[in-house]
Amino acid sequence: MAGPDADAVDAYIVDRLVGADPAVEAALAANAAAGLPAIDVSIAQGKLLHLLAFQTGARRILEVGTLGGVSTIWLARALPDGGRIVTLEIDPHHAAVARDNIARAGHAGQVDIRVGPATAALDAMIAAGEGGFDFAFIDADKENNPAYVRAAMALARPGATIIVDNVVRKGGIVDLSDADPAMAGTRALYETVAAEPRLSATAIQTVGAKGWDGFLIARFIG
Ligand SMILES: C[S@@+](CC[C@H](N)C(=O)[O-])C[C@H]1O[C@@H](n2cnc3c(N)ncnc32)[C@H](O)[C@@H]1O
Repeated sequence: MAGPDADAVDAYIVDRLVGADPAVEAALAANAAAGLPAIDVSIAQGKLLHLLAFQTGARRILEVGTLGGVSTIWLARALPDGGRIVTLEIDPHHAAVARDNIARAGHAGQVDIRVGPATAALDAMIAAGEGGFDFAFIDADKENNPAYVRAAMALARPGATIIVDNVVRKGGIVDLSDADPAMAGTRALYETVAAEPRLSATAIQTVGAKGWDGFLIARFIG
């Protein structure tokens, strides 16, 4: 007989520690209705991002990969008055759905969604001197993860937290025969972070509603 599984444990955790969340549930329903892929963070993971941003005391947050704005909503909830998120999304349809979801959740005034390739948006931000971010969450195309981390460092204040999602990929990072570009980008991310003395980092494996994966968590020493 099968025992409890990771999904059931996730449901238990969310039931006990997070509770009903009409804004996130409405965003997930709107994403599904609009045909967005269900690749947002889980509810337990979203709460974790919220807590980490809150613990960092983040006033300015950078997000790479908006989708329908579920992680953006969790992060926006950590902001103090006057706090802001810049979130980057290549797909105009995703960005439009996210804009509605974020407005419905009451965070429209805190979130600046920029539509287009994130590498170009980040280059423009660096050129414009838009630095001083306290927290970055990177969750877009995995091939560009090394570039996103470098850009996040260029835009971060010393002491900032940088988080990258999907860094375990069902264990595929240690299967060197897997030449998938997302896997190669993830391995290159580890090499980039390992070689960077201005980052202190670890990665934590996760199981649950989104399967076996993990977050890389780094402190930008400056
Ligand atoms: C995993 S989803 C983001 C999920 C979201 N962070 C959440 O948890 O709710 C990745 C998103 O990154 C976007 N994306 C992919 N490549 C991109 C690029 N080069 N620049 C900006 N966004 C990109 C995709 O369109 C997609 O919406």
